[in-house]
Amino acid sequence: MDPLGVSRRLGGLPRVSLCHLPTPLVVAERLSQDLGGPTVLIKRDDLTGLAAGGNKLRKLEFLLADARRQGCDHIITCGAAQSNHACQTAAAAAALGMACTLVLWEPTSPNTGVGRGNVLLDDLVGAKAAFIDPADGVSREDGMEREAERIRAGGGRPYVIPVGGSTGLGSVGYALALEEAILQCEATGGLPDKIIVACGSGGTAAGLLVGVAALELKAEVLAVDVDGEGSLRPDTLRCARECAELLGMDPSPWEEDCPWELVEGYVGPGYGALSEACVEAIRLVAQTEGLFLDPVYSGKAMAGLIGLVEEGWIGRSERVLFVHTGGLPGLFALGPQLAS
Ligand SMILES: Cc1ncc(COP(=O)(O)O)c(C=O)c1O
Repeated sequence: MDPLGVSRRLGGLPRVSLCHLPTPLVVAERLSQDLGGPTVLIKRDDLTGLAAGGNKLRKLEFLLADARRQGCDHIITCGAAQSNHACQTAAAAAALGMACTLVLWEPTSPNTGVGRGNVLLDDLVGAKAAFIDPADGVSREDGMEREAERIRAGGGRPYVIPVGGSTGLGSVGYALALEEAILQCEATGGLPDKIIVACGSGGTAAGLLVGVAALELKAEVLAVDVDGEGSLRPDTLRCARECAELLGMDPSPWEEDCPWELVEGYVGPGYGALSEACVEAIRLVAQTEGLFLDPVYSGKAMAGLIGLVEEGWIGRSERVLFVHTGGLPGLFALGPQLAS
């Protein structure tokens, strides 16, 4: 193992400080007992700090540093209305004194929760929300470009962050997160056999994959698909390749040899729609550990972990690192749908 295999490859990549690091790693003893075996270690990236915490802040430390380096003063990104990524971006932009415009969709779905959850927080941090309806034929990229034009016309300098902050540069934050987590795992008695994370746009899983290679670990990354459609596999691999390149690593092994699986079967009725397994997972973790998962990402990733233990894919004597990626505001957006 090479315990500093990521940080010593960072070179001069610009980075701003947004997160309170290291986030804690907890040994989830009661949850492990309930599952009948595997030792579950939970990396508390729901506690990264700004907004309500979450995984995107680690990506934004690199993305917003790049925006600053380019002299940009207005951040644009996109997401579903209750996007945690959009909210963390808006909060981070505010903390760095930048303006922020969010291109959001699903304006009329029952989960949108205007005035609730992340939409409320977006408003409190002063972001401008520009709602689009993909049914009108406006893609998110078109929506962001339209906003960028408008900002340029007003003399501003926009910086566009793609959906989920999933670029090679954003993924560097997760290669580094793994380095941090592995040090903590060693202190709790051993390295993980499996690493489990929710996979929405792929950048977080991609960073973990690169981290596994850079740290020379044996662990397998299990990325639980919470999107259910589209191009998650190639998107994840593209991010991993770009990230490996930025760290000066040979990007070619990512196509075939990489120890990862995109775990399907846990998205339920679709992205953002509750599944029974997700609600059960949220309740189990709340009642065994006093921790809250979210209904769109980490709840479904935990449902995946539970399912994989039941199927025997995760052995009862294995150590599992579960990356808790945050998303708490989503619980408050759904409210009555979750209550018993
Ligand atoms: C709480 C939470 N977990 C996981 C993810 C998935 O991360 P990625 O988009 O990098 O796959 C997201 C993305 O928005 C998220 O908000």
